Amino acid sequence: MIKLVISLLPLLIKHGCCCCGCYRCCSLISIIKVVVVVVVSPHKNILRWIFLNNKSTREACSYGGRVKAQVTTEVPVKVVKESKKQEEGIVVNKFKPKDPYTGRCLLNTRITGDDAPGETWHIVFTTQGEVPYREGQSIGVIPEGIDKNGKPHKLRLYSIASSAIGDFGDSKTVSLCVKRLVYTNESGELVKGVCSNFLCDLKPGDEAKITGPVGKEMLMPKDPNATIIMLATGTGIAPFRSFLWKMFFEEHEDYKFNGLAWLFLGVPTSSSLLYKEEFEKMKEKNPENFRLDFAVSREQTNDKGEKMYIQTRMAEYAQELWELLKKDNTFVYMCGLKGMEKGIDEIMVSLAAKDGIDWLEYKKQLKRSEQWNVEVY
Ligand SMILES: Cc1cc2nc3c(=O)[nH]c(=O)nc-3n(C[C@H](O)[C@H](O)[C@H](O)COP(=O)(O)OP(=O)(O)OC[C@H]3O[C@@H](n4cnc5c(N)ncnc54)[C@H](O)[C@@H]3O)c2cc1C
Ligand SMILES: NC(=O)c1ccc[n+]([C@@H]2O[C@H](COP(=O)([O-])OP(=O)(O)OC[C@H]3O[C@@H](n4cnc5c(N)ncnc54)[C@H](OP(=O)(O)O)[C@@H]3O)[C@@H](O)[C@H]2O)c1
Repeated sequence: MIKLVISLLPLLIKHGCCCCGCYRCCSLISIIKVVVVVVVSPHKNILRWIFLNNKSTREACSYGGRVKAQVTTEVPVKVVKESKKQEEGIVVNKFKPKDPYTGRCLLNTRITGDDAPGETWHIVFTTQGEVPYREGQSIGVIPEGIDKNGKPHKLRLYSIASSAIGDFGDSKTVSLCVKRLVYTNESGELVKGVCSNFLCDLKPGDEAKITGPVGKEMLMPKDPNATIIMLATGTGIAPFRSFLWKMFFEEHEDYKFNGLAWLFLGVPTSSSLLYKEEFEKMKEKNPENFRLDFAVSREQTNDKGEKMYIQTRMAEYAQELWELLKKDNTFVYMCGLKGMEKGIDEIMVSLAAKDGIDWLEYKKQLKRSEQWNVEVY
């Protein structure tokens, strides 16, 4: 039965997906939904994925949720915490470049609109449960073919965009969020990035060599009552989608998130707002526990008419963010463009200075206690 539905998914992809900002395939999706409801209703996780990725379930865009945060002015006593990196069962480098895992592409869907600058794709691979990963880890992908020296291509790293149980909830898939790299070089030639184009062009059924999983920097804090501030630019959203699915779309015997998750996402245009409908659904269902703020750099400005970068949006909440940062159970995660860290530091320097604190020193302390986690590239 499930095979029947999977076999329909390539059709959906071929015709474009509603996530991409157009409505041309809503009718196709409706047909598929009927089939899915009739045939695989016991497989709730597949239903959930298709539902969440249907544009027709989106609501009007509302920039900047304003749910009140838990703010304290007390400077907490730092306690020794159990490191997230020591947690049992975290697998690193199970598959190495010499002996990679061969995954199969199950789905590949463009998730940016037609008028977005650049294309970003959501890609799901089957793993048969062989690639056990945690939220916040990355995998390597070895693209097909050889480089200009006739050697096999080297692996590229990609942050995992699905929670540990995967988009279908069966621990048998891993998902990525990949931007297609295309640029014009100094000679005026169009150059296509090797691995991102390999990935974005995959069709369901195609194979890809996977290594890893790797990385411990972006693992989630264990404390279910923590405040988790997530700062993403573009595809830097990947690890946060994985966090947020675990927090808000799943039920776990040993984890029930009851803290505050606050996501800031910076993208160029509203047609490049990645996974927007999923995040809005989370916010609707968990208004006390989830705040959502978008910074759309080419469409929005601040009061001074400056481009709305992620740090510009954060500046609107500067004092509140600073107060949160003084709490012992606030954890900041940053992922995406390398340049974003500098802008964020600039806001924090002046805020910390008001309290007579040297931000760079304070940041070091936060890093030591795993409260400031950065993976930028
Ligand atoms: C930990 C980690 C996680 C990552 N996660 C993700 C992710 O989730 N999603 C994602 O899309 N990417 C992610 N990346 C980036 C990814 O690994 C690749 O670097 C990216 O996809 C480009 O690889 P490519 O093979 O397509 O390009 P390549 O063929 O490797 O070409 C890249 C090279 O092209 C050149 N270049 C690029 N842009 C320009 C330009 N404008 N002008 C001139 N030269 C240029 C640079 O020399 C650059 O090194 C991550 C990187 C790291 C380190
Ligand atoms: N773990 C990792 O290391 C990791 C994971 C995922 C992705 N990545 C990398 O992250 C990058 C994301 O690229 P993308 O193409 O997906 O993003 P994108 O869609 O182009 O969005 C990036 C956004 O950040 C803005 N921006 C540019 N400079 C900035 C700055 N200095 N400070 C703050 N915001 C800034 C851009 O604005 P304008 O374009 O309007 O100037 C745009 O709105 C890629 O290089 C990708 O390889 C790294």
